[in-house]
Amino acid sequence: MNSTHQLHEIAYSQAKEAQTNVVIQSDAVVGIESCVKQGNVVPQVHKSLKNILEPLDANYPIEQCLDLGQFVHWRGNATSPMHRWLRYREAYSPELIDKLQLGNRILDPFSGCGSIPIGAAIRGKSAFGIDLNPIAAFSTKVKLTPLRPRSIRGVEKFIKDIPQLLSMHERWPLPELSISEKVFEPEMLDSVLRARAAIERVFERDQQARDFVFLAWLAILEGVGSYFKEGNGIKYRNKKRQKGKYEDRLDGEWQLARFGPDQRSFFQEAFARQLQMMLEDAVEWGIGSWDDQRVAEGSAFNLLDLIDGETFDSVIFSPPYANRFDYFESFKVELWFGNFVNSYSDLNALRKASLRSHLNADFKRPADNLAPLEELIGLMDRDSSSWRMGVPDLMRGYFHDMRMVLRQCRQAAPNGRCHVVVGNSAFAGVIIPTDVFTAMVGIQAGFNRATIVETRHLTVAPQQRNRLRGFEKYMRESIVILE
Ligand SMILES: C[S@@+](CC[C@H](N)C(=O)[O-])C[C@H]1O[C@@H](n2cnc3c(N)ncnc32)[C@H](O)[C@@H]1O
Repeated sequence: MNSTHQLHEIAYSQAKEAQTNVVIQSDAVVGIESCVKQGNVVPQVHKSLKNILEPLDANYPIEQCLDLGQFVHWRGNATSPMHRWLRYREAYSPELIDKLQLGNRILDPFSGCGSIPIGAAIRGKSAFGIDLNPIAAFSTKVKLTPLRPRSIRGVEKFIKDIPQLLSMHERWPLPELSISEKVFEPEMLDSVLRARAAIERVFERDQQARDFVFLAWLAILEGVGSYFKEGNGIKYRNKKRQKGKYEDRLDGEWQLARFGPDQRSFFQEAFARQLQMMLEDAVEWGIGSWDDQRVAEGSAFNLLDLIDGETFDSVIFSPPYANRFDYFESFKVELWFGNFVNSYSDLNALRKASLRSHLNADFKRPADNLAPLEELIGLMDRDSSSWRMGVPDLMRGYFHDMRMVLRQCRQAAPNGRCHVVVGNSAFAGVIIPTDVFTAMVGIQAGFNRATIVETRHLTVAPQQRNRLRGFEKYMRESIVILE
């Protein structure tokens, strides 16, 4: 048995123990309550934290390759042809295909806006992408579908006709999202809904052109809206962040500053610009292999069913990080206005099916324990909001879900490597080394070896900064390579 296997065995038996004995007492851990009694909270907790994190890091080789940081935390999705069609902040770079030598057939079970399938198409390789967010899957499909010349002409004509089309068509029905009338100014809302109706009517007989123009419409909603995506959801433009707090902006003034005096023109110009840009980028379709890519809207939990017996040279994915951010919350305006969801129960179903990285996920599903994770949870500050909101269960669910996905990845690429891009988190005065735990559950899922490649240092959130001073080196964004 190699040393990794031994560690896995130890971790596994500890996990079993923890299942029956959730209150963990070990030499390494002094719980926060006993620290308080000693009146010496921080130094004691720090000592205990160090005693857990240090040996955890020693479990797997950790190599530094900061050159990869720019591909993991990718700015190019805002500027690169085709990738820039829909703002998806969490994307990584398709260049990882070359940097990590992913081979010719690649699986990405959390494919987001399609960085890997698009990158594979351009390189003449083939990829299979899966994503639960219907907007992510839809945008990837549109990017992967070259428009016929006739459709391109139809889109060009549509761009010219936008002003007339908006006056000709009735408004598309307002979605039942409770904040529908708050997320757009009244005049802007009118343009948004008329444009939607125009798209459906004009392209009734050309689905591909309809999808292309519809994606452009979805992509501009945030820009023409009175909201923007930030952190774990959306914020309103009538508030301005000033030194850590939000202040009201004067009604009438902020709209003028953002949209100018004519909101209809602002909308029409934004829509036309987006479509022009997408048409310009469409030259990318001239090279590579666009027919060899597949995208499934669904959950990575069912990936073996979705790939239906196919095998791959390698797997790469970046799951949602365990940071409480709910993708369906930040995309809720686009999900409702695009009719990807038509009721709150549709929206909740997506949240419940997602990886347990946020607190709206399904915590009724099973979650077994990892002993060192339980030790870290034992050190968490029980007065913190993270604790009260249920972060311990989030962590347990997260690694349970990751193991379930990794087990299927192992079968999907039986002779290949699996690359997981993850970031570590800090909650309630404790650092969770997600990369190490991913390596651990990867070994449990059937991989033989794990290597952690640190690509970037992450900062600790301001509210955790003081209490985690000295532990910054554990805040990493890494690629966990499982073989
Ligand atoms: C960090 S993003 C991936 C971004 C992607 N690498 C890219 O370059 O666009 C994580 C993705 O996981 C998706 N997701 C969350 N739960 C999922 C699940 N159970 N199955 C598949 N995808 C899921 C989210 O919708 C999100 O798009």
